[in-house]
Amino acid sequence: MIRRHYKIIIAAAIMFSFFGFQVNKKSGSEMEVVKILSIDQRVDSLMQKMTLDEKVGQMNLYNGFWDVTGPTPEAGSAKLKYEHLRKGWVGAMLSVRGTRNVKEVQRIAVEETRLGIPLLIGFDVIHGYKTLSPIPLAESASWDLQAIENSARVAATEASAAGINWTFAPMVDISRDPRWGRVMEGGGEDPYLGSKIASARVQGFQGDDLADKNSIAACAKHFAAYGFSESGKEYNSVDIGTSTLYNTVLPPFKAAADSGVKTFMNSFNELNGIPVTGSEFLQRDILKEAWNFEGFVVSDWASINELIFWGHAKDKRQAAIIASRAGSDLDMEGYVYVRELVKLVEDGIVKESIVDDAVRRILKVKFELGLFDDPYKYCDPANEKEVIGNAKHHEAVLDVAKKSIVLLKNEGNLLPLKKEGQKIALIGPLAADKNSPLGSWRIASDDNTAVSVLEGMEKYTSNSLTHKKGVDLVLGHTAFIEEVVINTTNRNGIDEAVETAKTADVVVMVLGEHGFQSGEGRSRTSLDLPGLQQELLEAVYAVNKNIVLVLNNGRPLAIEWAAKHIPAIVEGWQLGTQSGNAIAQVLYGDYNPSGKLPMTFPRNVGQIPIYYNHKSTGRPENTNDNVFWSHYIDVENTPLYPFGHGLSYTTFDYKNFKIHGKDFTVGDAIKVTVDVTNTGNYDGKEVVQLYIRDLFGSITRPVKELKGFELVHFKKGETKTIEFTLTNKELGFFNNQGKYIVEAGDFEVFVGGSSNTVLKDAFTLK
Ligand code: BGC
Repeated sequence: MIRRHYKIIIAAAIMFSFFGFQVNKKSGSEMEVVKILSIDQRVDSLMQKMTLDEKVGQMNLYNGFWDVTGPTPEAGSAKLKYEHLRKGWVGAMLSVRGTRNVKEVQRIAVEETRLGIPLLIGFDVIHGYKTLSPIPLAESASWDLQAIENSARVAATEASAAGINWTFAPMVDISRDPRWGRVMEGGGEDPYLGSKIASARVQGFQGDDLADKNSIAACAKHFAAYGFSESGKEYNSVDIGTSTLYNTVLPPFKAAADSGVKTFMNSFNELNGIPVTGSEFLQRDILKEAWNFEGFVVSDWASINELIFWGHAKDKRQAAIIASRAGSDLDMEGYVYVRELVKLVEDGIVKESIVDDAVRRILKVKFELGLFDDPYKYCDPANEKEVIGNAKHHEAVLDVAKKSIVLLKNEGNLLPLKKEGQKIALIGPLAADKNSPLGSWRIASDDNTAVSVLEGMEKYTSNSLTHKKGVDLVLGHTAFIEEVVINTTNRNGIDEAVETAKTADVVVMVLGEHGFQSGEGRSRTSLDLPGLQQELLEAVYAVNKNIVLVLNNGRPLAIEWAAKHIPAIVEGWQLGTQSGNAIAQVLYGDYNPSGKLPMTFPRNVGQIPIYYNHKSTGRPENTNDNVFWSHYIDVENTPLYPFGHGLSYTTFDYKNFKIHGKDFTVGDAIKVTVDVTNTGNYDGKEVVQLYIRDLFGSITRPVKELKGFELVHFKKGETKTIEFTLTNKELGFFNNQGKYIVEAGDFEVFVGGSSNTVLKDAFTLK
């Protein structure tokens, strides 16, 4: 589709550049001759007309007037913002939403400023606008790239109908630390899976043609290494080596760039001593030069100011110098460029070419979005009414919600539940909750609009269902509405819940984190079930062991007790608007789960960081029966649930695993096949995963690395041969100079339904 568009555009460009002119039919019989210019030419021509003030204005991004997603460095009065808008000192706004509001600010920019340059209107469309998909970490558990793309498309369609033309997504930060609250926004711990997901999301948001009215510009964030914040603490330092940076952190960003993402956002962290907003190495050397990225970089919220608090710039003036030179093109709500940059250029301290480069990049995206042709293209109230929250979107988010659920454990096939004649007790503070499943980052959706598990289960009317909360998860919230106060004292409902559980055939318990316990600014030092939920779980277990535990959470949890005692565990994340329907359909077997964990579940917090693609160490095993090997003395090395783990109601058998050949030369395409059979009693899907291990390297290699996967549907009894190809792209790595190399040597290849698969074969690369 993209290619077809390009062909038409190229053909048209050749035709018109030959003649140099196009004849346009205008209203009535009036004919006008318009010179056809490329976007670059249009940008150049506009820039020639711009004053320095106006150029710097394009580098200024203001927050709107109500939703706030960070501390405001200046009082940020609406009056001042309107004043700046009218002067042409604002290039973009964020968190202005709804066609009426967007049209109003856009009208000022277009009709009241000298050059009438339209605004970019950004918004955190992280997992939907009003109709919410699962949180991104959950969606990543689907390993279903088409479903992920569809979900981003729904988000773009609703957001664009509300006047928004730019989303601050996808977040592609790899993280190995579930203490960090923002793991809920990303694709998990693995760079290969993360890269595929990054591309799918970019494609979903931007569509086939950015100029379409339901396409919006995407933003790969947070560039870079924010997910490695020390000790999982928000906004913290990051100190990682070149190998981790190139092999783990950067690949999803590169994938986003290769997929045509229009913008990047930098981040709050420092990387090896340089706050990344001021990092020339990341933003210029890597992104704009090595990767040839032609879009622009937006700072994170006031992150240019934060150069001062990091102790990297002494004041705003110096922050502006550092950030602009480093390639941060647009200042988000920082008031630094708008206050400092004009003077710095006039004084010859910042080169005008730096400003020109930034402005050129910003304007180009505006042209590509078609904003100069129709600045109000996203501002149609009739479309807004029709599109937002329509039934098709609910179907789409239900589809991806079901695909995101991971069956962690199912001892004795307790699941799926029988549909008739069962007495079911539904217990837990999250069972009837309609708010928490919406998750964090859902600024435009209304409170309490998720389908609860209770509502979802009530649709199955041939069983008896009794609901008891047991305990409250939260007692309320602090002055900041999104900060919840966890209940650690009120046990009033426990006895009643235990009584109900006593006589039930099956107890379904919905426990986990509140939706506002993960997300930005929500790091945790404990990964236990918060509050009194563990106590409730154990009290119920004491009277009835037939428990299905449904987890609702925004990050991996350390649920070692539950994993040991509870027979069935379903990872139900925070699944968005259709949450309860998706969970009920899985519990009752109307949907056979196929999700796989995108992030390792630790046994306890002390194991963190724990991730599947770790290095071997010099003492990986206990060969001499003593303590002198790489381990803990109080907990085993394995995780609770590994990356890639997830069960189905059916079973899969892997046979005839074959590498087609034994000796290869660097550059060969190596074919790998395996026969997978559905050996159980249900049709179902399996994510067939392929991992490699490069046994010896000039830089030590991980014990396993995901290098291929395929989501395959199998009928009951069906066998399919799954084929993978390994090439230089999969077999190499970045060395400590950031150069991609492929080394000859011995490799192992593993296939299976999880990263802990032991089915392996080997080959040599010469
Ligand atoms: C977050 C970004 C977000 C921005 C705008 C910041 O606090 O780190 O991810 O896009 O706010 O809301």
